[in-house]
Amino acid sequence: MDRVFSGIQPTGELHIGNWLGAVKNWVALQERYDCLYCAVDLHVLTAKYEPAVLAERTREMLIGLMAAGLSPDRSILFAQSQVPEHTRLMWFFTNVTGVGELERMTQYKDKSQRMERVPAGLLMYPVLQAADILLYRANKVPVGEDQVQHLELSREIARAWNAEFAPDEPFFPEPAPLLTPARRIMGLDGDAKMSKSLGNTIGIFESAEQIWAKLRPAKTDPARKTKSDPGTPEKCNLFTLHQHFSPPATVAEVDTKCRTAGWGCIECKRVLADNVIVELSPIRERGAALRADVEAVDRAIALGADKARAIAVDTMREVERRMGFLPAMTSR
Ligand code: TRP
Repeated sequence: MDRVFSGIQPTGELHIGNWLGAVKNWVALQERYDCLYCAVDLHVLTAKYEPAVLAERTREMLIGLMAAGLSPDRSILFAQSQVPEHTRLMWFFTNVTGVGELERMTQYKDKSQRMERVPAGLLMYPVLQAADILLYRANKVPVGEDQVQHLELSREIARAWNAEFAPDEPFFPEPAPLLTPARRIMGLDGDAKMSKSLGNTIGIFESAEQIWAKLRPAKTDPARKTKSDPGTPEKCNLFTLHQHFSPPATVAEVDTKCRTAGWGCIECKRVLADNVIVELSPIRERGAALRADVEAVDRAIALGADKARAIAVDTMREVERRMGFLPAMTSR
């Protein structure tokens, strides 16, 4: 069976951009594939972070994933740092990866440009990502457009390692992206991709009041200055959200009422808010139930890590044998 691996950085609360752009698809994939989903807490270290809140954020991210529908019974859910083989495989991979290739990654170029002193970890970020995937010999990786280049590098790393250490028959598969059906979700400001750091998000756990407070002032079609100006739905960021959250009949109604100025933006937003609230409230309730028993959550995560580790140890045994190391400690 095909194996799916994906990861998400536990840098903040899951928001509807993550949910529509990734997690909803991850939930659907668990029906068809053998899936591993990981809170990639080691990747967090490549930017300034607060050690005092990292563990809590990692747990919260995994709670978010479970509340959104990832099941610890169907998928393997865990934190990257719980499986030490990720960083071990990364070291092996750094030696079949060219510095030039790493320096050409657009994400690296963007981020390093704004820094006075670039941490080496930032350059190695995609090597760790390749190790995340290949440690489980996953061949399908559901990601957004922005990760396509990193995946291409993962394939190059798999090829380079195979060429050197498994020349007769490839040991690592070449992982392919599974692009998420939803195109990128813009923030409520309508200016940039939805992102926690820009404060333009709706969190999946927000209350009805919080959701309305965020949608009410959200940017719509700028040509619609007053209620009687007709609007163009395709130019309105909130219309995209209607398409994700409202039933088709409502989407059609919004389309007409906007073009004919039958509804003002505020009426349109009220309908959207109600539909967002309906869709998010079961997630919010599941989140609250999970949070009520943190020990059970931690047990579920530890169990996920054990299952992931069992696969990881098998991979590493073979990798180390082929790379010429002495057999591992008996404790493994
Ligand atoms: N770089 C990914 C992102 O920012 C997160 C990530 C880390 C990842 N390791 C991964 C995604 C492995 C897919 C597979 O979205």
